[in-house]
Amino acid sequence: METPFLDAQVLLSHCTGLDKTGLYREGGRFLSPAEEEAYSRLMQRRAKTREPVAYLTGRKEFMGLELEVNPAVLIPRPETELLVEKSLELSAGCWADQSVLIVDVGTGSGAIAVSLAKYLPCARLYAMDISRVALEVAKRNALTHGVEERIVFLEGDLLLPLAGLGLEGRINLIAANLPYIRTSDLDNLMPDVGLYEPRPALDGGPDGLCLYRRLLSRARVFLSRPGYILMEIGAGQGGEIALGLALAGWKYEIISDLAGRDRLAVAEV
Ligand SMILES: C[S@@+](CC[C@H](N)C(=O)[O-])C[C@H]1O[C@@H](n2cnc3c(N)ncnc32)[C@H](O)[C@@H]1O
Repeated sequence: METPFLDAQVLLSHCTGLDKTGLYREGGRFLSPAEEEAYSRLMQRRAKTREPVAYLTGRKEFMGLELEVNPAVLIPRPETELLVEKSLELSAGCWADQSVLIVDVGTGSGAIAVSLAKYLPCARLYAMDISRVALEVAKRNALTHGVEERIVFLEGDLLLPLAGLGLEGRINLIAANLPYIRTSDLDNLMPDVGLYEPRPALDGGPDGLCLYRRLLSRARVFLSRPGYILMEIGAGQGGEIALGLALAGWKYEIISDLAGRDRLAVAEV
């Protein structure tokens, strides 16, 4: 979806250091020459190259937290807040004030892990990704938000980095926003996404669900009883993932986003 007004507003905020309210409050003033030059340079770059606004500013807000982003990581999407909100709800319902142990698989910028750590002061987390550069961004975001001491960052494929840590049967919740776009759809993405966001953060294999199938085949071993796995999915993938979960004997629920599209699979071991 094109959002030119919002894009212009975010870039103007970035160049002036004013938040949205500040922009309206100071709506009558002229930009300084330096602000004008910076703003016009970024606007032209955005218009000509379609580079995402968040990569131009290096920042993206997620769950009320400002996160650093760069082209090594997927730009956190508002839709992913549903996964975080559901994780917070399950944690509050099952483990309340007790220490909850959470794994964020495919952490990218650390959006999920950092916001869960921020809003669950008793939580301890493992944030994992196959991309070392992404993990560096996630670590900086954890540091910025003062939660780095409760997050262990591990590099590797899906749950493999947990091997040998003695965590079998102890993880309360696995949160995963892994790539779920079909390989054949990658060439039809908006240029902002297809040209700039990292392909390993998007490519979910022939039907988009390859990584989730592999994740589910190993997740049960690590989950406590009760224990949950939450997976962000794309429009139209609910039926397929539900079938896989049912056949493997999980209790599950498919949750839609505000637009009524399949968005989240929540499974209980
Ligand atoms: C869709 S992005 C999500 C990033 C972040 N969790 C978010 O919600 O904004 C998927 C992430 O999974 C990582 N990834 C892809 N394949 C992986 C694998 N086999 N094991 C671990 N991480 C993987 C990518 O590097 C990328 O950072």
